[in-house]
Amino acid sequence: MIAQLAPAVDTVRLSLHVLAATVWVGGQITLAGLVPTARRAGPDVPRQVAAAFARLSWPAYAVLIATGVWNVAAVHAGQPNAWQAVLGVKIAVVVVAGLAAWLHARSRSRAGLAAWGAATSLSSLTAVVLGVLLAG
Ligand code: HEM
Repeated sequence: MIAQLAPAVDTVRLSLHVLAATVWVGGQITLAGLVPTARRAGPDVPRQVAAAFARLSWPAYAVLIATGVWNVAAVHAGQPNAWQAVLGVKIAVVVVAGLAAWLHARSRSRAGLAAWGAATSLSSLTAVVLGVLLAG
């Protein structure tokens, strides 16, 4: 019985992980595309839009961490050293993505916003590619 359920449980686990990744990463790309229009709508509109996105993105980040740990528990056994190494790099990249996003939200200068924003997107996109590599 349990064996038959495994594919279904794997599907739920990976679907939750990928769904959260679409919000965290896809949301950043969408937000970047909306910023010019938000700026034209009013000086405070970009900040309000970013705050609204944060109410979605941080829960998505939390789901990524939780389902990420679940992923590791489900598939790490017997994986070669190269897989373990990719996982280690991915976890470091995910920590950088969270830290950069937090610093970006606290930036008061255009330069800080741009630098930490770029660091967030780059590390988040790297996490996607490393995730696909892990899933094999
Ligand atoms: C910004 C955060 C993250 C993003 C964007 C992300 C993205 C992804 C993506 C796109 C996949 C591929 C899914 C597939 O091809 O079916 C994946 C798989 C995976 N991720 Fe993540 N992930 C993140 C965080 C984490 C964390 C924190 C961990 C570990 C603690 C983790 C562990 C894994 C594992 C082990 C797999 C392979 C799952 C399998 O083969 O069943 N991920 N991730």
